[in-house]
Amino acid sequence: HRHLLGIEALSADEIGRLLDLADQYANMPKDDERARRLLRNRTVMNLFFEDSTRTRTSFEVAALRLGADVINMSVGTSSIKKGETLLDTAMTLNAMKPDVLVVRHGDSGAVSLLSQKVDGSVINAGDGRHEHPTQALLDALTIRRRLGRLNGLLVAICGDVLHSRVARSNILLLSKMGARIRVIAPTTLLPGNVERFGVEVFTDMRKGLKDVDIVMMLRLQIERMQGAYVPSIREYFHFFGLDYEKLAAAKPNALIMHPGPMNRGVEIDSEVADDINRSVIREQVEMGVAVRMACLDALTRPLTGEKGAAQ
Ligand code: CP
Repeated sequence: HRHLLGIEALSADEIGRLLDLADQYANMPKDDERARRLLRNRTVMNLFFEDSTRTRTSFEVAALRLGADVINMSVGTSSIKKGETLLDTAMTLNAMKPDVLVVRHGDSGAVSLLSQKVDGSVINAGDGRHEHPTQALLDALTIRRRLGRLNGLLVAICGDVLHSRVARSNILLLSKMGARIRVIAPTTLLPGNVERFGVEVFTDMRKGLKDVDIVMMLRLQIERMQGAYVPSIREYFHFFGLDYEKLAAAKPNALIMHPGPMNRGVEIDSEVADDINRSVIREQVEMGVAVRMACLDALTRPLTGEKGAAQ
């Protein structure tokens, strides 16, 4: 592949190899000298049309640890503010010959469109409600390192599934890797015909969480609900917020995950989020760097080709 636009285009074997590579990066000291030579003289551009803390900074850290030159284009102070279009912006940046463009955009499909116009590789850092492939990969790596496998696990994805590119990429990845998936949400926050993704659907947290290995919470994405039904926060937390009482239905050692940013007290109780034994939210962030190193590495040097620092 020249681009990473979504999990949909990847086979289980490719996902497994990417996770193996990311696992090696996760075990490597952050100043590994061989890694630092791998992307020397390569240019990685971050182009984020939507806000980000984790994804943008971890792509930057990942690129720097591989020795690349990194440019963070600030959309807020760019000529987009003067009316320049997405494609004109892409062509302008393309003329500066980046090797990799990391792009986040509010419209589903915008990153794919941009990838057809540029010469380098494009990584989707989240496009609308469509996909957030590196998030699903880092979630999978976190689970695999904790539980040793993905195959056969029972995973509950809970909350605002309708607006969530994280949910979509996770459903695609985890089902390709042999996990069973439940989605738990109010009917107003479920996509139409969600069963087509091969998931079991629940509208009751206690029933849906019964005996699951993984509880994956989603942020309530109020910013994507303009003109639509917005639940009351108090009512939402009462029925769908993860607290210890609802968590009791899951397996005793079930892992608690959240892609961040979290709304404490909305979709997750603060104490549960900070549970030192069961919450792996900070580990997810840590694995984000390793996964993004693996993606940058794999796109600039095919996995089957020349040996890299992690092989
Ligand atoms: N999980 C995630 O994508 O976080 P950011 O929006 O902070 O990048």
